[in-house]
Amino acid sequence: MKKQKFLKFCERGNDMVDLLWVIKNNISLLPYRLGSSYAFKPQSISLGVNSDCNSKCLMCDIGLSNRGEKLDSKFMRMLNRKRELSLDNIDFIISKIKSFRPDIHINTTEPLMHPQIEKIIEHLRAANLKVKLTTNGLLLKNKAKELANSGLNELTISIDGYDELHNEIRGIPRMFKLVKDGVDELRSYKDIPLRINFTINPLNYDKVYRSVISINDEFKPKKVVVSHMNYIDENMKKIHNLRFGKDFPVDTTCVAALSPSTVDTKILSQELDKVKSIENVAFYPDLTDAELDIYYKTNKLLKAHSECKVPWKHFQISADGTVYVMTRCFDYSLGNILTQDLDEIWNGPRIHKLRRNLLKCNGAMPACARCCAIY
Ligand SMILES: C[S@@+](CC[C@H](N)C(=O)[O-])C[C@H]1O[C@@H](n2cnc3c(N)ncnc32)[C@H](O)[C@@H]1O
Ligand code: SF4
Ligand code: SF4
Repeated sequence: MKKQKFLKFCERGNDMVDLLWVIKNNISLLPYRLGSSYAFKPQSISLGVNSDCNSKCLMCDIGLSNRGEKLDSKFMRMLNRKRELSLDNIDFIISKIKSFRPDIHINTTEPLMHPQIEKIIEHLRAANLKVKLTTNGLLLKNKAKELANSGLNELTISIDGYDELHNEIRGIPRMFKLVKDGVDELRSYKDIPLRINFTINPLNYDKVYRSVISINDEFKPKKVVVSHMNYIDENMKKIHNLRFGKDFPVDTTCVAALSPSTVDTKILSQELDKVKSIENVAFYPDLTDAELDIYYKTNKLLKAHSECKVPWKHFQISADGTVYVMTRCFDYSLGNILTQDLDEIWNGPRIHKLRRNLLKCNGAMPACARCCAIY
């Protein structure tokens, strides 16, 4: 009886957390709704702590470059600079952001390759900041004890299929098993809330159900988030750069090996219907059949997802301190947090120009159509 009461209390607690988030989100979007290019302090910040990755994922430019593909995108230029945020850099960044307590997402390149990743998390946590980390999980076993003791609030691991399928997409033999061993090792120290990111792509769209069942059996995550592949293809790049290339140029991204238009949306829809019966699955975004066709067969914006408000509430710090809106956004730096005041970056002329441009275009430019920020 006592246990049931406690569980009910926790559920209400979760509802309150959700409600607080909705209130916070609505307040931070007030300037956007009023058509202003000014923004309150960001709610969340992504940290790209390094510029390395040890995987060869077919739907990611970093992975493709690890396979020897010659790519020239913002991502690749960032990686070629080969940088790591030092602990001193992190402390300096903390001193600039801790007063407004943004959530921190360490979710770019492969964060577990940073030799002091656990110390970075410890320092952020000591400043009372909530920290989430996204990883491919390859180094989880080596880092399990340190991560367990770091104070990390939530761990996300990216898994794109059942065993052999995941290994094929990520280009690493035995990867699924290595990641599973890492999760078991971590749980032997501490049960950090675990979420799995599953990204639909042309190699796994017809095997989503089998994959999610296998992921649940092996990893027992709190949540599996199924999302759609993001990309900029040749046509999007052409249309976008014709109009916006001078100020906000884009490159093609994530399509050198996989072509999203090869996804059979009827089969995908059947797979997603089956997956919806699984309790711990969430969709990012949850698309109707008509929207799936638009997403995979055209470059059009979806009506329900046609405004990007992210530049009013979030930014990303790269491994050399350069600030962008986020990894998938335009090759448009907002400044450098290691050398400039935060206000100069977050409410300075460069970000005002980007926000004003978005407002002028009713919320999105052509290259925004398949960026996760708009969903
Ligand atoms: C770029 S990765 C960085 C973190 C880490 N390396 C990983 O793979 O988890 C962040 C997330 O983006 C996902 N991702 C990679 N390529 C993607 C794409 N083209 N579209 C959407 N998500 C993608 C990954 O699966 C992962 O969940
Ligand atoms: S998705 Fe993550 S693990 Fe895969 S290549 Fe990209 S950064 Fe590396
Ligand atoms: S939707 Fe557009 S403006 Fe928003 S983050 Fe993505 S590319 Fe940038």
